[in-house]
Amino acid sequence: MHEVSPTFAELQRRLLRHVRSFASSLEFDLAHRELTMTDCWVNIMPRQVVHTLHLHPLSTLSGTYYVKTPKGCPRSEV
Ligand SMILES: [Fe+2]
Repeated sequence: MHEVSPTFAELQRRLLRHVRSFASSLEFDLAHRELTMTDCWVNIMPRQVVHTLHLHPLSTLSGTYYVKTPKGCPRSEV
């Protein structure tokens, strides 16, 4: 989506510093390498549905950006 939508391209741009910071905290050796977003998609989930822990085997990093969460929802910070 980030390759065809200016909105998602902007999201990619805004996430980049967080991705770099997270990779740095994990002490990734990124000398002469750059992390890039390869996939991006949207899930619309009804109330009381959770996004459970899972793997993206071909990804170095993966994550979820929540546009809107219910009031009182716990937050996670890296
Ligand atoms: Fe996922």
